[in-house]
Amino acid sequence: MRKVGIAILGLGVVGSGTYKILSSHREFYQKTQNVDLAVESVLELDREKALALGVPAEKIRSNIAEVVADPDVNLVVECIGGVGAAREYVLCALNAGKTVVTSNKELICKYSHELERAAKRQNAGLYFEASCVGGVPVIRTLLDGIESNRVHTVAGIINGTTNYILSEMTENGSSYEDALKRAQELGYAEADPSADVEGFDACYKLSILSSLAFHTKVPYTRIFREGITNISPEDIRHGKELGYVLKLLAIGKQTDAGIEVRVHPAFVRKDHPLASVEGSFNAVYLVGDAVGEVMLYGRGAGDLPTGSAIVSDILYASTHSDIRYSTFKNGEKEEAGVQFAEDFSSAYYLRLTVADKSGVLAKIASALGKTGVSIGELIQCGSKGEVTTVVLVTHETHESNIKSAVEKLNATEIAKVDSVLRVALL
Ligand code: HSE
Repeated sequence: MRKVGIAILGLGVVGSGTYKILSSHREFYQKTQNVDLAVESVLELDREKALALGVPAEKIRSNIAEVVADPDVNLVVECIGGVGAAREYVLCALNAGKTVVTSNKELICKYSHELERAAKRQNAGLYFEASCVGGVPVIRTLLDGIESNRVHTVAGIINGTTNYILSEMTENGSSYEDALKRAQELGYAEADPSADVEGFDACYKLSILSSLAFHTKVPYTRIFREGITNISPEDIRHGKELGYVLKLLAIGKQTDAGIEVRVHPAFVRKDHPLASVEGSFNAVYLVGDAVGEVMLYGRGAGDLPTGSAIVSDILYASTHSDIRYSTFKNGEKEEAGVQFAEDFSSAYYLRLTVADKSGVLAKIASALGKTGVSIGELIQCGSKGEVTTVVLVTHETHESNIKSAVEKLNATEIAKVDSVLRVALL
């Protein structure tokens, strides 16, 4: 039986989950995979934490040099997070010829070109299933399950914190601030929630997933990004009346105009499979030219779900002699000649305050029509004296058209646009 010595860097939520799975499933993997996965060392400065988890005292290390110098360690699992020490330690492990498994989306998104170069030089593996959507096996699906396809859409709800916040606002009418506070109390959102609520986390994951799906580097800097901090319960309520649910969507599409990649809040029709993904759950929706639609659903974070993805990568690395690298030219930037579609198209939800008098709706329709925007649905939501709220959803149009339409409407005496949200055409 092949024995593989493992080092775990960092015993936070993900590192602890990985340690627990490796300890509790060791005999199971011996039986089912004919491989013995032995944790040989753990890099953790908080010794008490490591001891409480059951790590034997002699396996606790406090510096990376000791870990990579250990000849019994073949594979290093990085669960530190961020791009400071994590980047340095992963490079150190790869340069020493150790295969690396990581859950670090920011590191893979920003530096996989550099890490992969080091890995190839040393004939070491670099695996990162856990970096995207926790326990949901989306990278394996892209690389193995549907590799026979030209994938033209990778979209989904790939951040649990924001999905929890938006679900809370939808179900209970909570304000953004109250929903965020609840997410923090439950441990979903960090004390500084900006990576999640401003959409960076989803952006890193979308960069990785769309690079794999479209077989070309999609740098995160090319991704349009808008977070959820300005969402009001009022818009969620009006959307609901029109049959929509608001989600933070990550959307990657291969179109005739180029690669379209964006992260932003968007209304989804309530009968679309993504609409029923609630709370901290995640889902990825893929469309391939042969298979059609595929949807994966599950936990995108947490100790055991993310540990599950890490240990599956460890098993893959331990039972395959060939090493699997990126299926695209992995440079720092996009490849020359690859087009990105920036003026993407969508349907749009607009909330307006308008003068409550005759002929106003015709003037709104006319102002929109002048910029090539046509109205699909419209509701008037009661009068507040001289003004009233009007909510409308447009037919498909371009981002540039909607910007001009909003400028035109705001320039009139009769209407002020209070809110603009995209409506997903998935
Ligand atoms: N913070 C992420 C989320 C989990 O809320 O989905 C790890 O990527």
